[in-house]
Amino acid sequence: MTFHHIRKAVFPVAGLGTRFLPVTKDIPKEMMPLIDRPLIHHGVDEAVASGCNDIIFVTGTGKETIFQYFQHSPELEAHLTETGKEELAEQLRKIPELADFHYTLQEKPLGLGHAVLCAEEFCKDDYFGLLLPDDVMLAEPTVLAQLESVRERYSGSVLSLEEVDKDDTSRYGIVDAEEVEPGVFRVKGLVEKPDPKDAPSNLAIMGRYVLSPSVFKHLKSIKRGSGGEYQLTDAIASMLEEEPVYALLYKGRRLDCGVREGWIKATIIKALQYPDLREIVINTIEKELNVKI
Ligand code: UTP
Repeated sequence: MTFHHIRKAVFPVAGLGTRFLPVTKDIPKEMMPLIDRPLIHHGVDEAVASGCNDIIFVTGTGKETIFQYFQHSPELEAHLTETGKEELAEQLRKIPELADFHYTLQEKPLGLGHAVLCAEEFCKDDYFGLLLPDDVMLAEPTVLAQLESVRERYSGSVLSLEEVDKDDTSRYGIVDAEEVEPGVFRVKGLVEKPDPKDAPSNLAIMGRYVLSPSVFKHLKSIKRGSGGEYQLTDAIASMLEEEPVYALLYKGRRLDCGVREGWIKATIIKALQYPDLREIVINTIEKELNVKI
């Protein structure tokens, strides 16, 4: 049997971003900048680098800027060219060419599970990638590509895992899993945001998935779960009863940009990677705190 790499990637971007209010009142969380590009652009870069050329955004009302960002801006591009900023114009021209972009509307933010279900028409025929854009991943190969290589070997959906502090389990979906090779697990059960005393492990599900299209059937059968939302973890738990699900402790670093503490940390970490910005960060801290780094 030949193996087809995933070609489609879904980005749910219809959430309200309440943990980052008030800025997210008018700016979608996914459009928050990390250095000079929005979080969603970092996510799209990862999907494209992982071989996905069809990108599906599940958008909500008030998220028009995401659509606009991935369109051409003929006037701005022409202005940059006319004023001698061709390199910048070229950079902007490349954004809409990154992939084929598709949009579908989640009318109400009823939860991640519900958002994924909105992408069914685009993804019902094959395995697909799911990326939550507020997790920006620094990894080589990409986390999505790492998950794909597990799917290639085990044939099943693959979740991304990170070990978290036992006290933090109530912030994540947590798996009960059996290790089948170093870092690769067969999932036996999942719980959304368990109390530390009820958590089956400290292996938490992060914002990258490779999912079998059969997930849609299960998304249709689940009821509202934790927080009154339709939870993806509940659908995956139901899917487990019919087909194998795997999980990978991926290699790489996650920058959680969905909350201000994580976003500021991510901005500093990223800035330190750019030679011109690195000096500014160090100099500013030295001057502000009167310390030598
Ligand atoms: P989050 O829970 O991190 O995003 O969902 P949120 O709900 O926008 O943020 P808070 O919790 O209120 O601060 C992860 C991803 O799923 C999307 C979000 O836009 C985000 O990219 N999402 C979430 C949807 O598309 N629809 C939903 O109903 C919920």
